Amino acid sequence: MSPNPSPTLPVAAPFEAREPKPVPPRPAIDVRGVWMSFTGAQAEPVHVLERIDLSVAPGEFVCIVGPSGCGKSTLLNIIAGFLRASQGQVTIEGQPLAGPDPSRVFVFQENGVFPWLTVRQNVEFGLSRTPRAERAKVVAHYLDMVGLVGFEDAYPRQLSGGMRQRVEIARALAANPHIIYMDEPFGALDFITRLKMRADLTGIWQRERKTILFVTHDIEEAVQLADRVLIMSRRPATIQEEVRIDLPRPRDLDSPGYLRARDRIFHSMGMSLRVGESAVER
Ligand SMILES: Nc1ncnc2c1ncn2[C@@H]1O[C@H](COP(=O)(O)OP(=O)(O)O)[C@@H](O)[C@H]1O
Ligand SMILES: [Mg+2]
Repeated sequence: MSPNPSPTLPVAAPFEAREPKPVPPRPAIDVRGVWMSFTGAQAEPVHVLERIDLSVAPGEFVCIVGPSGCGKSTLLNIIAGFLRASQGQVTIEGQPLAGPDPSRVFVFQENGVFPWLTVRQNVEFGLSRTPRAERAKVVAHYLDMVGLVGFEDAYPRQLSGGMRQRVEIARALAANPHIIYMDEPFGALDFITRLKMRADLTGIWQRERKTILFVTHDIEEAVQLADRVLIMSRRPATIQEEVRIDLPRPRDLDSPGYLRARDRIFHSMGMSLRVGESAVER
């Protein structure tokens, strides 16, 4: 008699050390299927945005570029909670957007500062929730960061356009938001001041790592600033392409990587800067 075969025991699956699944970071901003039409006095509704999807990670610097009038400001105003989309969802830090909130600030192109308040009072304005004793310190810190020490008691009318935008940026940062929305914030400044402001904003962002969503029609500005550039098409606009800018900061505006990224965006927008080719739009 053959011996009983030993009963087969179920073989335990080899133990696998289970790594905790990485949880993808919750987007700071998430936009799904946003459409926007303006209906008003005009006979026909104006279709501005079509099927906009975008996502911005916490601490990311994203620029939106697109031709003038394509709907960049409309989109930013929807995301900031100032305008309601005709259709679609906006989720901010995991919560459906319910309107403007102090954890998000908006930097406008001009006239964001109160003309009747001094520089110091303007920056202090959003600090009502900060203990009084701390306010002076916070204000001093951010005025130093934007290079306005010595101008604390000046009124906006006594400052240049660039300095007024610095006050605006200091005001935004002092409020300690999670997210900063910027709509062509340097658009009204002269060329040299604009270059300086971009360099300064890059330094500030590297120190503060706020989530920034920045709208501009200036492609070079976008390439200098952003981790990622979203390119909007003409109206009715959608996001037609996204270009990641993996270049170290501060960026060398003559580097081949910079020029490549810039040309790719120009190309995507149907424009060319090369000698011998027409720089006019397609
Ligand atoms: N409140 C409004 N009512 C009607 N049309 C509007 C309104 N706001 C913007 N538009 C139209 O929507 C389009 C996009 O405008 P906007 O978002 O300001 O463009 P961009 O910021 O890209 O230059 C434009 O054609 C503009 O005329
Ligand atoms: Mg605009």
